[in-house]
Amino acid sequence: MKKLKTLLAATFKEFNPRRYLKMDEIELENKQNGVAYRFAQRIDIVDMLAIERDVYDGEVPWTFSHFEHEIVQNENAFFIVAEIDQKVVGFIGARVTDKGKKIHLSNLAVLKKNQNHGIATTLIKQIVRLSKHLGKMQMTLEVRRDNTKAQGLYRRNGFQTEHLMPSYYEDGGDAIWMIKKLRNDVDD
Ligand SMILES: CC(C)(COP(=O)(O)OP(=O)(O)OC[C@H]1O[C@@H](n2cnc3c(N)ncnc32)[C@H](O)[C@@H]1OP(=O)(O)O)[C@@H](O)C(=O)NCCC(=O)NCCS
Repeated sequence: MKKLKTLLAATFKEFNPRRYLKMDEIELENKQNGVAYRFAQRIDIVDMLAIERDVYDGEVPWTFSHFEHEIVQNENAFFIVAEIDQKVVGFIGARVTDKGKKIHLSNLAVLKKNQNHGIATTLIKQIVRLSKHLGKMQMTLEVRRDNTKAQGLYRRNGFQTEHLMPSYYEDGGDAIWMIKKLRNDVDD
């Protein structure tokens, strides 16, 4: 355990562990195919907003304070970022729900120019590993009904459609609620 802690200290120098999640005992696969994965910090929010603007045609569905709440204030939430040459190119957010039993994916995006290289897939896998490590039984998420690209990604990563949520979004768009059961004996 001491060796693991030393390794983690070196990997996440400025990481401020969410105590209740015991994240200081959790190891991310921190470098894959030239992309580094680490827990997000407040300083990353500017880059995360730029990613949102890039993928949502200038819009920012999540503002600075939304991200700040989930990264700094809400102890039930965290983000992981993907970094290439010290530039954040993607992120995934998660939140513990249902009295700690489930993990809800709150947000996911990858800069357009870095898409289709498996970064979102790896970000999801990181959260799956982490959730299993934390003993969670289920992951949930909602996705726009017309976002077929994201739905395909989630299906490939073991999520199944649970139900439709009509007019879920402010603009009247429908959402699909998806779930993934976690089995600790299976690696995925
Ligand atoms: C959805 C999104 C996060 C996917 O990010 P991504 O990093 O491109 O995802 P991946 O690379 O893991 O997978 C995307 C595709 O690349 C393919 N791929 C994965 N690794 C690959 C590789 N090494 N080489 C070539 N293709 C690869 C996947 O098979 C997938 O193919 P498909 O789209 O035809 O099904 C990204 O498109 C995005 O930011 N969209 C806007 C925001 C959004 O919709 N977020 C989800 C909200 S719920």
